[in-house]
Amino acid sequence: MRRILLSGCNGRMGRVVSQLCEDNREVCVAAGLDIKTTKHFSYPVYADPMEYGGRADVALDFSLPSSLTPLLTYCKNRSMPLVIATTGYDEAQLAAVREASGSIPIFQSGNMSLGINLLMDLIRRACAVLGEGFDVEIVERHHNQKVDAPSGTALMLYNAAAGALPYQPAPVYDRHEIHAKRDRHEIGLHAVRGGTVVGEHEVIFAGHHEVITLSHSAGSREVFAAGALRAARFMAGVSRPGRYDMNDLLNRG
Ligand SMILES: NC(=O)c1ccc[n+]([C@@H]2O[C@H](COP(=O)([O-])OP(=O)(O)OC[C@H]3O[C@@H](n4cnc5c(N)ncnc54)[C@H](OP(=O)(O)O)[C@@H]3O)[C@@H](O)[C@H]2O)c1
Repeated sequence: MRRILLSGCNGRMGRVVSQLCEDNREVCVAAGLDIKTTKHFSYPVYADPMEYGGRADVALDFSLPSSLTPLLTYCKNRSMPLVIATTGYDEAQLAAVREASGSIPIFQSGNMSLGINLLMDLIRRACAVLGEGFDVEIVERHHNQKVDAPSGTALMLYNAAAGALPYQPAPVYDRHEIHAKRDRHEIGLHAVRGGTVVGEHEVIFAGHHEVITLSHSAGSREVFAAGALRAARFMAGVSRPGRYDMNDLLNRG
């Protein structure tokens, strides 16, 4: 049984992960971390990771970017693998993750669902086939409680497209101040926020008299929680420092 230290345990995702672990024989939550230490499950909850002196095989983070520094320090001190699902980091925080991956194994993915990772493959194929002749736009929809925009997943999809197009695109987040025609080499990223939408992503390839749309819709947070638990189980057995992502999980022998 793998023991997880769950950061953000009282949040929407943290509670879904905890619920899935209740019925799981391979993983359990050893302890939770959250800014509010209310207990919703049987494991203890701490505000500061340093307060937890017990054993864990891997840390899993579904919190906010502000929790990153103490979590990295804790994992580095204990040589503990870390799975980061949180999104919305700034450049300095992403640099801190890269630096920490020199001493511990770190798995990071802005979207833990298998479907989104397949979508990235399809996007690469579409970009390679459609090339210059199609304008690419990305639209994402999320619930009205989401803080960061565009979503971490939209940025992953953008990067998948950027790596496969025959030109270097530029992201455009906001057109309301731009009084100019669309540049051929830009990719617009659009964030819709409302209600309880779990997560929807659309990549639109608009050409001359034809439009191709690739899309993914998550019907429940369980999709992400289940993928994150797979990642946590995988990383609990990894000791080599470095950066890992869904490809390492999907392509392992
Ligand atoms: N990779 C993926 O597949 C995936 C899927 C879904 C969501 N996400 C990301 O996962 C993160 C969490 O999403 P969510 O919907 O669960 O958000 P949420 O409901 O806001 O949960 C975040 C939890 O972390 C707590 N928290 C805030 N600051 C903290 C700190 N410094 N230390 C410890 N805990 C802290 C929050 O407490 P308060 O409520 O008191 O602030 C809350 O309980 C977001 O970044 C989201 O974008 C990733």
